[in-house]
Amino acid sequence: MAIQIQHQKVRKAVIPAAGLGTRFLPATKAIAKEMLPIVDKPTIQFIVEEALKSGIEDILIVTGKAKRPIEDHFDSNIELEMSLKEKGKDDLLKLVEETTDINLHFIRQSHPKGLGHAVLQAKAFIGDEPFVVMLGDDLMESEIPLTKQLINDYEKTHASTIAVMKVPHQEVDKYGVISPSGETEKGLYNVANFVEKPAIKDTPSDLAIIGRYLLTPEIFDILDTQQPGAGNEIQLTDAIERLNKTQRVFAREFIGRRYDVGDKFGFVETTIEYGLTHPQIKEALHDYIIKKAKELAATDKADKKTT
Ligand code: UTP
Repeated sequence: MAIQIQHQKVRKAVIPAAGLGTRFLPATKAIAKEMLPIVDKPTIQFIVEEALKSGIEDILIVTGKAKRPIEDHFDSNIELEMSLKEKGKDDLLKLVEETTDINLHFIRQSHPKGLGHAVLQAKAFIGDEPFVVMLGDDLMESEIPLTKQLINDYEKTHASTIAVMKVPHQEVDKYGVISPSGETEKGLYNVANFVEKPAIKDTPSDLAIIGRYLLTPEIFDILDTQQPGAGNEIQLTDAIERLNKTQRVFAREFIGRRYDVGDKFGFVETTIEYGLTHPQIKEALHDYIIKKAKELAATDKADKKTT
């Protein structure tokens, strides 16, 4: 009789939020960069919403010293809720209540030794299950949430799958990059190597790892012994490279819009884009942008005349 291997459902997500956020200093001196809002919503809330839309049931947030605001954001705030109720502000009450009653768990990464080390803190929480890692630096927009796409891939392959996306060639040295070795199906690559922050001249491709990973639990044994790599940090990419030597690891190319909110310009861009769809400010923001663009064009023209 053939033995049927039961593969586990992907139920858990890990959101590392313990980095120092140096690109956003001084804003991130006392709060995690994942709490910086895009108009009115902290970036971490977008990530939690993507997890829930993808069918994730339990979420572990890895926090650093700025843990309290994240915990409080997802906790109920009775005083605020009562006050909104009394004032009849039902819309605001609904928004506040949306962020409670989620199965969230927290663990501390005592020293920010790198993303790989942050993920290692989830070992006991994950146990022997496949899981996803979701980074707050990347907000993704697509019909099927990217995390759900990775879960769909896992259900077919039962293998780790890392989300990647084509980035401008000149920027590859900011990312982990894959060396693809053929497609299993459209957009699902076999990978020869995973390389963290390659020199531009040496990059194996322009397919960069973006902030969504579906990993099998064997990654933890590897992370246990992972030595610091680029930037003297324990890199998740280096551990995935080793995992790929012992079991198949795929890369799924993301087709959709990615907002890089871990970068200052990306953050401002995202704020504008989100503002342009926000019911309370979209018209005012639209008019402001048109007015500003005209002013800037006029200044540019005047500058050109004087030079
Ligand atoms: P980043 O390198 O983007 O975060 O890590 P950072 O170090 O906080 O940011 P900068 O470059 O100094 O501005 C990617 C993700 O991994 C988390 C970060 O919080 C971020 O979500 N991270 C990174 C940890 O949780 N722990 C670490 O030790 C490092």
